[in-house]
Amino acid sequence: MKEQLEKIYSDAVMDIEKALTVKDLEDIKFKYLSRKGELNEIKKGLKDLSPDDKKVVGSLANEISNKLEASISDKFQKFYQQELNSKLEKEKIDVTLPGKYVPQGHVHPLTSTTNEIVSIFQSLGFSVAPNECSPEVETEYFNFDMLNVPQDHPARDVQDTFYTNIAKNVVLRSQTSGAQIHVMENQKPPIRIIAPGRVYRNENINSRKNNFFHQIEGLYVDKDITFGDLKGVLNEFIRIYFGASRPTRFRNSFFPFTEPSAEVDVQCIMCEGKGCRTCSGTGWLEILGAGMVDPNVLRGVGIDPDVYSGFAFGMGVERLAMLKYAIDDIRLFFNNDVRFSEQFKG
Ligand code: DAH
Repeated sequence: MKEQLEKIYSDAVMDIEKALTVKDLEDIKFKYLSRKGELNEIKKGLKDLSPDDKKVVGSLANEISNKLEASISDKFQKFYQQELNSKLEKEKIDVTLPGKYVPQGHVHPLTSTTNEIVSIFQSLGFSVAPNECSPEVETEYFNFDMLNVPQDHPARDVQDTFYTNIAKNVVLRSQTSGAQIHVMENQKPPIRIIAPGRVYRNENINSRKNNFFHQIEGLYVDKDITFGDLKGVLNEFIRIYFGASRPTRFRNSFFPFTEPSAEVDVQCIMCEGKGCRTCSGTGWLEILGAGMVDPNVLRGVGIDPDVYSGFAFGMGVERLAMLKYAIDDIRLFFNNDVRFSEQFKG
C-alpha cells in the first residue's frame, strides 16, 4: 500500500508539472483528490489494516494529499499570476502621453455683449425686468397701441412687421419697447428697469440688416425725471462701454412713445469718422433711440403724467458689438462659423 501511495504521489507530481491550463489542474484535482479520487480509494482500504499499519499508511496518505493540495494550489496561483501579467501587458497605458484635446466652448459674442451692457446698467441702479414682461410673441396692444403708435403708422405694415397666424393681432415683436408697458402695468413708480431680448423685422437681409436682432430696452419713471437724467445715464453708459475717448453725439429724433426724442450716434470705428460703406459715408453709426416717456403712454398705464415723468431708451446689441469689435457685417453673428465666434473667447 505504501508503494501504491508513493506511485500515486509521483504520478500526480508529474501530472501537475505537465499541466498547462487551469482546466488541466482541475482534472488532476478530480483524479487524485476528489471523493472518488485515487487517494480516497486507498483510504477506503485502511480499515482492513492492522492498527499500526493503519497509522503509518493513514498519515502517509494524509501527508501526500496535503502536499498535492499545496502544489496544485501553487500552480493555480502561478496561472492566475501569468494571466494577470499578460492582461496588464495588453492593457498597459502610458500615463505620460499627452491628453486628448477637448475644445472648450464659450458664450456667443452677442451674449457676452448683452451681459456686459446689462451689468453696466445694473451698476447704474437698473434691474432686469422679469421674463414675463418681455415676450417675443406679442399682441399689437403691447408692441404698438399702448406705445402711442397710430393705426396707420408704417411700422405696423406687413412689410415691416411679422404677423403670426395665431390671431389677427399677434406679432413677433418688432421692438423691446412693449416691455415698458408690461412693467408699468404691473409696477408702480419708481421704476428703473432694463429688458434685453430678440426682436423681428421683415427686412431685406444685408450687411447691416437682419430679420431678427437684439435690443436692450430701458425705462426710468419717477418724480422729477428730466432730459438731463437721460443724458447723464446714457453718457455714463457710453463712457463705460466705449471708453472716454470715443466721439458720440445726441441728435433729435421722433418716436411715437417719447417726447422729446433723441438718437445717439457713435463715431464709426471702421473709418474713424471719415465715412465708409459701413456708416454709409456719414462717419457715424446710430446705437440707440431714447426720449422722455410720452404723457399719453403714462396715462395709458394709469400713471399720472402731472406727478411722474420718465425716460426710455432702446439700443441695438449687434450695433454695439460691431462698433466695439470692428465687425462690418451683421450676418457674421448668425452664420455659426466658429472661425468668427472663436475670436471672442476672452
Ligand atoms: N423701439 C425703438 C426702435 O426699435 C427704439 C427706442 C426709441 C426705444 C426710443 C425707446 C425709446 O425706449 O424711448 O427703434
